Amino acid sequence: MNNPSFPRRTLLKTAGAAAFLLPSSVAQTNAKQPDSGPTTSTVEDRNRRMQWWHQARFGMFVHFGLYSVLGRHEWAMEEEGIPVAEYELLAKQFNPKPHAARAWAKLAKSAGMQYMVMTTKHHEGFCLFDTKLTNYCAPKQAASRDLIAEYVEAARSEGLRFGFYYSLMDWHHPDGARCATDEAARRRFVDYIHGQVREICSNYGKVNVLWYDVNWPLTPEGWESEKMNRMVRQLQPDILINNRSGIPEDFTTPEQHIQAYNAPWEACMTMNDSWGYQRADDDWKSPKTVVRNLLTCTRDGGNYLLNIGPKPDGTIPEPSVEVLTRVGKWMDAHGALIHGADPCEVKHSAFSNFTRQGNTLFIHAYFWPGETLALGGLQQKVVSAKMYRTGQTIKFEQDQFRVQFTGLPASAPDPLATVLAVECDGPPTQDQTSIRMRRKRESV
Ligand code: GLC
Repeated sequence: MNNPSFPRRTLLKTAGAAAFLLPSSVAQTNAKQPDSGPTTSTVEDRNRRMQWWHQARFGMFVHFGLYSVLGRHEWAMEEEGIPVAEYELLAKQFNPKPHAARAWAKLAKSAGMQYMVMTTKHHEGFCLFDTKLTNYCAPKQAASRDLIAEYVEAARSEGLRFGFYYSLMDWHHPDGARCATDEAARRRFVDYIHGQVREICSNYGKVNVLWYDVNWPLTPEGWESEKMNRMVRQLQPDILINNRSGIPEDFTTPEQHIQAYNAPWEACMTMNDSWGYQRADDDWKSPKTVVRNLLTCTRDGGNYLLNIGPKPDGTIPEPSVEVLTRVGKWMDAHGALIHGADPCEVKHSAFSNFTRQGNTLFIHAYFWPGETLALGGLQQKVVSAKMYRTGQTIKFEQDQFRVQFTGLPASAPDPLATVLAVECDGPPTQDQTSIRMRRKRESV
């Protein structure tokens, strides 16, 4: 489907991200930090700036733009080969209802999310913010409003932190492709991009995250990314910057999959198969899948940025509302286990996921096994166990290879994930290999 000379996947990877890739078994947030990107000061400073973000764990991504009017995925302009002049006409139809962002922020908050990241300009080049550098922006077209100002107001009024997604690749700007081969075009285009980044970092008060995307067709040197990010940090000293301007900066961004790194990471994912609104995409994740993904990110010390793609009027597709509402009910009771988690080394089970706080292991059973729940390979002694929600004590038996929790309800108390709180005599770890190697093979 994609032009082979523009493979989407390779556009997403930056040298910086790839360099930090480690198998998840090695990756821990408390592992040695890699060299910080050239524009970050010290590891200590980064840790200070990132504290809220690590604790937040769960955020809402919002993809909104002219592609929402088409309702055929945010890549429609390129994938369907739509001429620029034809695509521009969408700006005359794009007029979302005022303050649509308030419902997004409310939903994010009720889902237990603590921050939002919204597209200020996607690859299509249309700006949702007020810019002096082009007329191709919401305030100067049908919407006649700064949609980013509305989003900022909405996030702030719900007490959420917020970030700006900004695509470096631009399918609309006349220099957006020829900048690769024409130095005068590169100069104009880079000035335009830096100018817009300056605007979004200057006009909305404190911004928590700058989330760059696709850095085609230039190298970080061509984009002058280092200079750009120094400017950003001067304007926003506490900001967190992702890795997609081609230098590592503060965090790495695995996309549509969960992968732990030995540097701060955030897995971003769609709720169906599209970032921007796609009317017919019905491949929705279930609330259970969302909870399981959030648990995996939490367990491995990362963040989970889950997307909504609002309709052209700004309303959120019904299935997204339903999923996030159910996730929110689960988060009401279990959010403390997400926001207060330490990285967890217990990972193996065919029906449970795990989080940890100090010496306590939380077993999140998403496929409830029934009256007995067994865990293999736990290396610590269990001191006590209880049902997390009710506090009811659980009986257990432990031998060298297995701990069994008994007398549990026959059917799942919580259909998304029922949690057992298991206090151990040290930070819980697991050794599955020892079961295979050492468990007696004779039947006596
Ligand atoms: C990719 C896609 C883009 C989406 C982004 C989110 O870069 O090109 O459409 O916005 O991923 O991570």
